[in-house]
Amino acid sequence: MPVVVVMGAQWGDEGKGKFVDLLAERAQVVVRSTGGSNAGHTVWAGGRQYKLHQVPSGILYPGTLCVIGHGVVLDPPKLLEEMDRLASQGVDLSNLRISGGAHIVFPFHIRLDEAEEDRKGDRKIGTTRRGIGPAYMDKFARVGIRLVDMLDRDEFLPKLTALVEEKNRILEKVYGLPGFTVEEIAEPYLEYAERLRPYVANTVELVNDAIDAGKNVLFEGAQGHLLDIDFGTYPYVTASHPIAAGAIIGAGVGPTKVSRVVGVVKAYTSRVGEGPFPTELHGEEAHRIREEGHEYGTTTGRPRRIGWLDLVMVRYACRVSGITDLAVPHLDTLAKTGLPTLKVCVGYRMSDGTVTREFPVGLKALSQVEPVYEELPNWEWSAEMSTARQYDELPEGARRYVRLIEDVTGVRVSILGVGSERTQAIYRSAIF
Ligand code: GDP
Ligand code: IMO
Ligand code: MG
Repeated sequence: MPVVVVMGAQWGDEGKGKFVDLLAERAQVVVRSTGGSNAGHTVWAGGRQYKLHQVPSGILYPGTLCVIGHGVVLDPPKLLEEMDRLASQGVDLSNLRISGGAHIVFPFHIRLDEAEEDRKGDRKIGTTRRGIGPAYMDKFARVGIRLVDMLDRDEFLPKLTALVEEKNRILEKVYGLPGFTVEEIAEPYLEYAERLRPYVANTVELVNDAIDAGKNVLFEGAQGHLLDIDFGTYPYVTASHPIAAGAIIGAGVGPTKVSRVVGVVKAYTSRVGEGPFPTELHGEEAHRIREEGHEYGTTTGRPRRIGWLDLVMVRYACRVSGITDLAVPHLDTLAKTGLPTLKVCVGYRMSDGTVTREFPVGLKALSQVEPVYEELPNWEWSAEMSTARQYDELPEGARRYVRLIEDVTGVRVSILGVGSERTQAIYRSAIF
């Protein structure tokens, strides 16, 4: 009964959507259980592009049950917009199930996210401005409103009234911004609740029943290890747990049920938002990788910051999440850049001169590390590698790159990506 978690092992946007879509062909259930509309997962199938934010990437397979679990913060108008867009692309949404336990993102959360980013100025986090942090703050302050509350007018209205009053005080007094009336939120949100009602289910039972019945269950991570609230580059992180443990907490599944954890590692590093980035590139090399890899945010359209592959960071993700397999996309992108030499970070030189493979806890230490690079010269990758479907069809340079990833992390690379299309992948070891 394979239960597989797919998670990002860097700063998000590693290509989780592509690999979830790929693996979902053999899964009966796909579960999204962390983050919210901050995520943007791009899937290319049959020459068509699908952008998923809150809907699990398994939705393209008509027979696959797609579950949004408790741990997600749900933005109802954005979710409905996404569902409408997918329906207009011919996607069947009848297999979508949503947990009543998911907390709701309201317009005041979005305004507070924006206000706080603007107030911070140079110290901003660079959030997606989707209200994610403020919605999780309410959840942990135990004043949040869940989908189950929104489905019951009598439960919803008093809770919303109390929350709007509190948020208005903050918006007006702290930020000098206009607040909201209860009515302007209550009426549309009650309508959204009615549109979502047919999809609401007891997802804890659904997912655990599927596991007990021996079905293939896939967890679709959002964000990435370095954006984790505890293990990421705090405070430049998101407000949830993108690590493997977060996926099962957010779905209500016990740790003993997970059989494999697949860490997705882009063949280089990208990051959107602020914060230290030891292997960051700024010149022509970054430009070439960004353009060849189409590295612009799926959610915000922001150009992504680009750097060399950092295996100290990936090793850290492997340890914290017990990653059993790595999936490495964008080998084709590195090939297409035609860069004569690639660098891979295999250690950090600390300010006292010592070299380590341990990821530092403090941001100050991280911003002072000097990456120790292994250079892969005489670049022999062919730009046509996007047609390769077997590992031994890859040029020796690319295979050397893969071996280096395995040597430093101690984890096997089981899947490779050689293009954005669903079919452009190479399996070295079956996941399901
Ligand atoms: P996610 O958030 O982890 O799902 O990743 P995003 O969808 O935000 O960004 C990954 C981008 O890389 C998307 O545009 C994908 O279509 C693309 N992609 C994924 N795998 C590959 C690959 O192997 N090669 C290329 N060229 N593009 C890929
Ligand atoms: P996927 O699932 C990349 C980043 C933001 C910012 C920080 C906090 O597509 O990989 P937030 O809006 O969550 O409060 O922003 O986290 N971030 C992501 N970066 N991919 C994502 O999701 C991200 N979700 C959030 O850019 O730095
Ligand atoms: Mg993304």
